[in-house]
Amino acid sequence: MELSAFGVIGLGVMGSSLSLNIADKGFSLSVYNRIAPGEEHMVSDLLDRRTDAMSIQGFSDLEDFIASLQRPRKILIMIKAGKALDHVIDALLPLLLQGDIIIDGGNSHFSDTKQRCENLRKKNVHFIGCGVSGGEEGALKGPSLMVGGNHQAYQSISEVFEAIAGKDKNGLPCCTYVGQDGSGHFVKMVHNGIEYAEMQLLAELYALLRDYYSNVEIAELFKTWNQSDLGGYLLEITIDILTKKEGDDYILDTILDKAGNKGTGSWSSKVALDLGSVNTMMASSVFARYVSSFKSMRVALSKSANRLKIKNEFQIEALEKAYRFARIINHYQGFALITNGSQENSWSVDCSEVARIWTNGCIIRSDFMEASIEYLKDGKTYFEVDDLRNQLRDGEADIKSLLTLGLENNVSVNTFYSAYDYWLSMTSENLSANLIQAQRDYFGAHTYQKNGYPEDQYFHTNWTE
Ligand code: 6PG
Repeated sequence: MELSAFGVIGLGVMGSSLSLNIADKGFSLSVYNRIAPGEEHMVSDLLDRRTDAMSIQGFSDLEDFIASLQRPRKILIMIKAGKALDHVIDALLPLLLQGDIIIDGGNSHFSDTKQRCENLRKKNVHFIGCGVSGGEEGALKGPSLMVGGNHQAYQSISEVFEAIAGKDKNGLPCCTYVGQDGSGHFVKMVHNGIEYAEMQLLAELYALLRDYYSNVEIAELFKTWNQSDLGGYLLEITIDILTKKEGDDYILDTILDKAGNKGTGSWSSKVALDLGSVNTMMASSVFARYVSSFKSMRVALSKSANRLKIKNEFQIEALEKAYRFARIINHYQGFALITNGSQENSWSVDCSEVARIWTNGCIIRSDFMEASIEYLKDGKTYFEVDDLRNQLRDGEADIKSLLTLGLENNVSVNTFYSAYDYWLSMTSENLSANLIQAQRDYFGAHTYQKNGYPEDQYFHTNWTE
């Protein structure tokens, strides 16, 4: 038996698509899936999908699977993040040898990845946490891959990973070594946080527009935006979604308005809070999904809300500029979270390189992401780019029109509001935090700093004297 160059464990949608992608690029592959109720045919189903040119061996016995791999073994695990992953790692460990490499391609929490890297290092096995974006099609044809872990181990798998990744406009792989331990999964988590807000902005625009325009008309409008600098994958799929029919009905109109989530948006928002990073747009998008889930309560309460639908006039161009404004802030907040996470964990993540690998294969690929490679060069932020600062300054009036339209028409546009409010606060010389400081000092003697005094000098007042 010829030994395979690479192994994949877990043949769900993502695992089987990545397997076919790897084999299609000419790498000999072994695949494994457990025999469990409902999973009995996963290995044979995958083998049925291989072409003559592909070299794939299938296993349902872990020992045989490991024995079929060249050393050092390179094993990609594509199973549900969490406890199940630890069970598989525990089962693998007695079968592995020094220098073997385990790669977790699931949406694991970066702190778990960090811990697993450390645990396995003690056992002389490399652990790599790889963020994989692009869904089923991306996995099959070219995902965006965000790799974190031991650099030497990355070098052993880079040939395979760079071959299967999507390609940027210069033909370079949308795959990069992000940094040590949990950095790849951290960056993927933030990718999803940005994704949540990008999706929510489109949902809020749709909510505003549907009072005035048909699905087809909204799609036509979005098509024109998609041909501008606002173009991107999420806008593109929204256009398709708006016009897709089943019989006489638009499918969109038949879908229950309760949004699901698998947790990565809330992880990013929680991590942002822990790091002191301001990520109001992703948090607001997560909350919007949570609010949507209270459907029966919303239906009941709507009866007592008794709101009149007034159709107010508005300028369509204002919405376009407001969308551009909000996307700049969303990307700013997202990359700021990556920078903060990188500093906290000593990862040295290069945001411009992250933007590059997000230009293809992933869900938030867009023309703005393409431009971001340059905007974020050499550690720069969006706010240091004159053109973007001007767009924000000039877009203020437009986002205010959008917010006003939302208020007047009773449409929730909270993620747009978060974008506006962030910019408003960040560009305000004076905020009201002096009162907060006084209150803290009043009830807790927490002290305060004073205008015109050195920052390291703190004052306390006895407020009741
Ligand atoms: C991707 C996606 C993918 C998936 C997430 C988010 O980059 O391919 O982000 O990882 O869509 O699971 O899903 P939820 O919306 O269910 O949280």
